Amino acid sequence: MTNTTTPNAAQSGTFRIGGELTVNRLGFGAMRVTGEGIWGDPADRQEALATLRRLPELGVNFIDTADSYGPAVSEELIREALHPFDTVVIATKGGLTRTGPNVWIPVGRPEYLKQQAYISRRRLGVERIDLWQLHRIDPKVPRDEQFGAIRELMDEGVIRLAGLSEVNVEEIEAARRVFPVATVQNLYNLVNRKSEDVLDHCGREGIGFIPWYPLAAGGLAREGSVLGEVARRLNATPSQVALAWVLRRSPVMLPIPGTGKVRHLEENVAAAGLTLEDEDFRALDEVGRDEWTRKQAGRD
Ligand SMILES: NC(=O)c1ccc[n+]([C@@H]2O[C@H](COP(=O)([O-])OP(=O)(O)OC[C@H]3O[C@@H](n4cnc5c(N)ncnc54)[C@H](OP(=O)(O)O)[C@@H]3O)[C@@H](O)[C@H]2O)c1
Repeated sequence: MTNTTTPNAAQSGTFRIGGELTVNRLGFGAMRVTGEGIWGDPADRQEALATLRRLPELGVNFIDTADSYGPAVSEELIREALHPFDTVVIATKGGLTRTGPNVWIPVGRPEYLKQQAYISRRRLGVERIDLWQLHRIDPKVPRDEQFGAIRELMDEGVIRLAGLSEVNVEEIEAARRVFPVATVQNLYNLVNRKSEDVLDHCGREGIGFIPWYPLAAGGLAREGSVLGEVARRLNATPSQVALAWVLRRSPVMLPIPGTGKVRHLEENVAAAGLTLEDEDFRALDEVGRDEWTRKQAGRD
């Protein structure tokens, strides 16, 4: 996409999370401002900080992070770069522990979840966390105890809104009996369609759907990906087409592409201004579903 003006996430339209917090739909995932294996400091700390500082200039006002990214590193860098968050909504998560690079172990004991929310609040330097999401439901702990901890965090004013991650429709509805579910964050992109039913449910219920891996961890950003032909024709990059597609898929969609590089951030935000015609949207949809079906059948 040839850009003569500065890209702006406002072009993606807005969504009101939990009916309360209005954000531009194209957000940012802050998992990639950490080290290899989402462990420790980023290789280029200055570039990571520059990426975060560029967000408000590009109209990105919805940032996703977690206590476990680093751990702590992502929340700390966000604070260093952007505090006091006048114009951005920070969504963090808790419930996964880290014992090494690429190791993610759920711990859903209510006292642990509450402790982590208190720590995130302190680390971010806020009075109340805008949106706190349960990173995983811990199968070792009764889920209502985990949901109950979230209810208490809301009642105590530690968190304003709450969400879930990697859940099915039944789990969303079980949680809604305990607290209002403002967002659901599941793996979703053009070529991974396992959460179609959850996305449709969120659309019907006005719950924000945050697709993680919107670029298939970079796979959809590469030249030669399934998006190549449409991208070439629209004079856009594959990552922009991948993001434009998810944005168009549903009005409750809040993509959070992750990067630790200013250049990639600018490229991704420009997707907010890329409109896919019906024909391209449908053709991509089909290509993505085919790819997903092939993967499911284990032929790849
Ligand atoms: N709830 C969960 O369980 C969960 C799990 C995973 C992630 N998340 C959240 O979702 C966010 C997004 O997921 P993700 O970061 O794993 O995957 P992603 O957004 O699909 O892809 C990120 C990867 O793509 C690369 N990339 C980004 N923009 C690019 C571009 N324009 N051109 C080429 N490469 C590009 C990045 O590398 P560079 O840094 O080199 O640009 C990074 O390695 C995370 O940041 C995190 O906030 C949530």
